[in-house]
Amino acid sequence: MYNYTIKTLIIIRMFINLHNIMAHIISIVNQKGGVGKTTTAINLGAYLAEHGKNVLLVDLDPQANASSGLGLDYNNLNKGIYESLIGSHLIREVVVPSGVTGFRVAPATQALAGANVELVDVERREFRLSDALLEIKNDYDIVLIDCPPSLGILTINGLVAADHIMIPVQAEYYALEGLGQLLNTIELIKENIKEDLNILGAVLTMFDKRTKLSGQVMDELYKYFPNKIFDAVVPRNVRLSEAPSHGKAISHYAPESKGAKAYSDLAKELIDYLEEEKIKNKNL
Ligand SMILES: Nc1ncnc2c1ncn2[C@@H]1O[C@H](COP(=O)(O)OP(=O)(O)OP(=O)(O)O)[C@@H](O)[C@H]1O
Ligand SMILES: [Mg+2]
Repeated sequence: MYNYTIKTLIIIRMFINLHNIMAHIISIVNQKGGVGKTTTAINLGAYLAEHGKNVLLVDLDPQANASSGLGLDYNNLNKGIYESLIGSHLIREVVVPSGVTGFRVAPATQALAGANVELVDVERREFRLSDALLEIKNDYDIVLIDCPPSLGILTINGLVAADHIMIPVQAEYYALEGLGQLLNTIELIKENIKEDLNILGAVLTMFDKRTKLSGQVMDELYKYFPNKIFDAVVPRNVRLSEAPSHGKAISHYAPESKGAKAYSDLAKELIDYLEEEKIKNKNL
């Protein structure tokens, strides 16, 4: 019996080593408000899970839109990502299901609103999220971080914790305002803290092909992100704006909608990119 248990443990250990997952951590960032960060975080996350990935969404925004959009009650949660940032709880202790199989959430609670002030004086203040995520890095394939619309300490934590950065850009005239400042901030983090931080690129959101403006925004955007704009473009789609009030990802609310198709395509494109990157790194 004893031998049998030891053998089983060895086999399990070998299996874990063979399949040693290291989550890809992807921050969804743009300090401009209302550009589709949270819509992207929820629905990309849901489709990554639908396509077989084990996904965690970290809601790093005190507005808690990612949490409420997945049906979690901001007022009734007694712990969330704030507790992990200050070190009182492990991330695995605050994670809750999202309603989509394979997709879990580290929610934002009311306490997170205080973090902007409270984190100013703590040790390793830019690394709090990065440090906290170490503990679950082997439990997920992909961790998405929904950042707030500012370049404050929470977003800096989101950037420092990330391997990759995805920048949703709304297809409208003022969309490119602030992109320079965001790219400068990312550059500073690369120079001082994290050399290999990778800008995955921009995702065009709320695209309306009837307006000429969207085409112009696209041309401008190529100047900021040459070769780095996702092929999957998210259309303006009323189903995407309705889904959060039902507490559901689009994959569960309106899977036949154009918005759902776009996020499913974006998820596939991201998975392909990460696979190709893995092969490239192996060959180095
Ligand atoms: N493709 C879309 N089609 C229609 N409505 C959308 C689309 N994407 C987002 N919206 C709506 O636009 C609003 C802003 O989107 P969202 O909350 O995702 O942006 P955000 O960048 O996270 O905002 P914030 O900066 O406040 O966190 C929301 O009401 C959302 O439902
Ligand atoms: Mg948001």
